Amino acid sequence: MKPKNILFVLPLLFSCLLFKPALAQVKKATIEKKWWKEAVVYQIYPRSFKDSNGDGVGDIKGIISKLDYIKSLGIDVVWLNPIYGSPNADNGYDISDYQAIMKEFGTMEDFDALLKGMHQRGLKLVMDLVVNHSSDEHKWFQESRKSRDNPYRDYYHWWPAEKGKPAFRPGAFEADGSGWRYDKTTDSYYLHYFNYKQPDLNWENPKVRQEIYTMMNWWFKKGIDGFRMDVIPFIAKDTTFPVITKEELDSKYEGRWDVYFASNPNLHNYLQEMNKELLSKYDIMSVAEGAGMLKSTALNFVDPERHELNMGYHFDGTNLGYVPGYFKKMNPNWSLVEFKKIYSDWDAVYDKKGWGTIYLGNHDQPRMTSRWGNDSPEFRDYSSKMLTTFLLSMKGTPYYYNGDEIGMTNAKFNKIEDYRDIETLAEYERLKNTGGDLKQFIEDQKTGGARDNGRTPFQWNDSKNGGFSTIEPWLKVNDNHVTLNAAAQEKDPNSVLNYFRKMVKLRKNNPVLIYGKYTLIDAKNPNIYAYTRELDGKKVLVMLNFRSKKAKLNTNINLKNAKLLIGNYTKSSNGLELKPYEAVVLAIK
Ligand code: NOJ
Repeated sequence: MKPKNILFVLPLLFSCLLFKPALAQVKKATIEKKWWKEAVVYQIYPRSFKDSNGDGVGDIKGIISKLDYIKSLGIDVVWLNPIYGSPNADNGYDISDYQAIMKEFGTMEDFDALLKGMHQRGLKLVMDLVVNHSSDEHKWFQESRKSRDNPYRDYYHWWPAEKGKPAFRPGAFEADGSGWRYDKTTDSYYLHYFNYKQPDLNWENPKVRQEIYTMMNWWFKKGIDGFRMDVIPFIAKDTTFPVITKEELDSKYEGRWDVYFASNPNLHNYLQEMNKELLSKYDIMSVAEGAGMLKSTALNFVDPERHELNMGYHFDGTNLGYVPGYFKKMNPNWSLVEFKKIYSDWDAVYDKKGWGTIYLGNHDQPRMTSRWGNDSPEFRDYSSKMLTTFLLSMKGTPYYYNGDEIGMTNAKFNKIEDYRDIETLAEYERLKNTGGDLKQFIEDQKTGGARDNGRTPFQWNDSKNGGFSTIEPWLKVNDNHVTLNAAAQEKDPNSVLNYFRKMVKLRKNNPVLIYGKYTLIDAKNPNIYAYTRELDGKKVLVMLNFRSKKAKLNTNINLKNAKLLIGNYTKSSNGLELKPYEAVVLAIK
């Protein structure tokens, strides 16, 4: 430290000692209470939740018919995946009309009824905001591609062919991996980071930003309670599109495309503008899908003093355990020590300011029980409950995916014809074109990342099609619906479903589980994840066995006066040795 700084710090240290109690007060006051910090968010994938009109596709009326069930879970907020007008190349993440409802899902009247029904029950509704790209069938793009001087031309990113081929950019859902597509009409290429049917919008154009804010405002005026912002760091990119070599990428961006091709400095100007013009005017919540969000950059999004967003969700947790060089192939021996480190390091990011999120599954991930637990009949329920205990006892707002509350598992399809997801199909095509091992690919997807694993229809009961639809649905129902379904679990007080409800209640009734300080225990233990949460003199110990064999926690915490708050076995262990996939939450001194 330079001498000048020491002079500065000494009086501060001195006053700290003198006014310690006052300082403690100030420190306490720094965690500002907010409804979205206390909320449990339940994510509904509308296509797979409930079909009301027998066309094999979930819809808004279907969700309405299940509102009492949703309320009974004890959750506070529903995040709904896109329900806007869309030709469905990527299940609604390709929007052709931001102010309309997808025909398969119903009408705007249905939406209004849904919002009303939710608000009547004290539930909030968060919508998906997909504005890195639109559909190529959006009228903006239809105009944009007509001529080089069309008024909408600059709504998208175009590269005139006479300049030669543009530098490589990735197109995630393309068999050839390219994010540029040649368009004959104007002899130009356009940019799409996902599929060619999802052209990237040009955020550098102020008109585009104003169109988007106007549209968002329209939804806020309707009364929605927030937005989950799809790949929002991608909206700002270097639009000179320089060539980047693999070496440069590795040295400057840890080899991460999602960091390099996104998060241009303008990003935070856009988010601050959006906050000023819109978000700050409503009591709503905002959460970034933090693709390319790093521990070192996360606070740039959510430090309240920067006036941008409330929360973001990172990918470090869900990216763990994939075998390098393969498409989302899961290493069955993923490391729990690394898993704990990821969640602990991220907790530390928000130690002083900002607020985190916690999730293990969503519509882009395999089922949490299959991936982080154990979906064999012997351990499925125990491990589901254990993972639910984790999600609802960590610091940060939990985002809980529909179907996980009954312990749904991966689809494990045996043939490519059963898959519907554009990502899986593109990857299969790529492998086919390059002579890859297709049989192995299908095997890998059973435990690995195929997104359809998490998208199979909700298993309401044991009837044909799981009570989801009266006809064969758009994606096959998992065969295990005969024994694994909500109706059966409603009747069983010890079911996964009823455990979820208890765990939600426990979190709600114990602010220590929401705001309490998190401390990891026995970090190197390869089998058990354990931590304490502390707030206002209250202390809770959470112990989670992630293995199918007994395991012991190594700690000198005294359990003598410990009180059991919840456990996933009918009779919980009362020491530091845990049964397979056991979860125990104790109030301790
Ligand atoms: C992230 C969404 O969660 C995913 O489902 C979608 O395919 C991509 N963004 C593109 O919008």
